Parts: sequence; structure tokens; C-alpha cells
Amino acid sequence: MDHESIAYADPRAVPLLRLLATNPCDEDLVSHSEAVGDLARRIALWMGLPERTAERLRLAGVFHDIGKLVLPREILCKEEQLSEEEWIQIRRHPETGYRLLMEAGLPDLATWVRCHHERPDGRGYPRRLSGGQIPPEAAILAVADSYCAMTGDRLHQAAISDGEALAEVRRCTGSQFAPAAAAALAEVASPAATVAVCA
Ligand SMILES: [Fe+2]
Repeated sequence: MDHESIAYADPRAVPLLRLLATNPCDEDLVSHSEAVGDLARRIALWMGLPERTAERLRLAGVFHDIGKLVLPREILCKEEQLSEEEWIQIRRHPETGYRLLMEAGLPDLATWVRCHHERPDGRGYPRRLSGGQIPPEAAILAVADSYCAMTGDRLHQAAISDGEALAEVRRCTGSQFAPAAAAALAEVASPAATVAVCA
């Protein structure tokens, strides 16, 4: 993804792009975030959302984990298993991201990013929202984020195949993932099309 095009599309994003570039250790965070943005945009278009909304979702994907970047380096970069206390700090990142995006003057992105770990069954975080309380755009981010996380090597987990990831999304549809977003993902990220999606 071209960060210059993002800055051109919305100059308010520039300070946050700089923050993203300061990522001290988990270099995968940037490529993962870009992949989430690209996939979220494609899911939105498949669902028939307006092009403008799809573009805003692309941007939201780029910034979905921006709240992690204010975490202490020893937590963000830790390669060993995280302690429960450290997980508590990690789970604050949607609220931190919300605050950063609100301060940047990007309230639409802030609202969606705040909800990207919520689940239809109410077992997500930070506010344990459920069903219709979760914005559809956040539901798209959630499914795109999980798919890209599963199919890419991350700090605390090895990658699984595209087919396995789609099966996992299918298994968790209705509980972890909103049905409409999950169905669109299955169409957009067919195994033949995924090489370019989350590589
Ligand atoms: Fe996240």
C-alpha cells in the first residue's frame, strides 16, 4: 500500500502514519496492517458498501492496531509467552487506538477501530458489545484482521493455510464473526486469490 496515497486522501492521517513507521520491533505489524486494510476494502466492496466507505475501511485497517504502539517496548516486542498482566495491557489497544484516532480528527476510523475485537456473541473486548451493537464496518475489520493474522506468521503464532483459515472463520461465524462479513470474506479470499491478499 502506498502511504503517500493515504496522506493525499486524508492529510489527518499523516501523524499516525509516522507513528506506525516508528514501530520498534514487530515489523510484521506494518505489513499486517496494510494487508488488513486491503482485505477490508475488498470485503466492503463485495458487500456493496459505497466506494468511499470501502476506502475509509482501508485506512481503518492500516490503523487498526495503532494503539499497540504506545505499549512498552518490552511487551510489544516480547517473543516469549505474555503474562496475564501483559495481555491486559495488550487488550487496551482498541481504546488507545480510538483515542489516537479521535485526537487526529478521524472519528469514523476511531469508532470502527475501537470495536475491532468485539464479537457478535458479546465475548469480545473492550466493551463486550454484541450483535447489532457492533458497527458493520468493525465487523469487516475483525474478520479481515483474523484472516490475515491466521495466514501470516505473527510473533506468537505460526501461519496456517488459506483453506484452514477460511474453515476457522466458518466455524466461528455467528460467535466470533458477523455472518455477512464472514460470507463476504469467503468470496473475496478464495484460496486462489489469497496469495496477493495477505502475503
Ligand atoms: Fe487488534
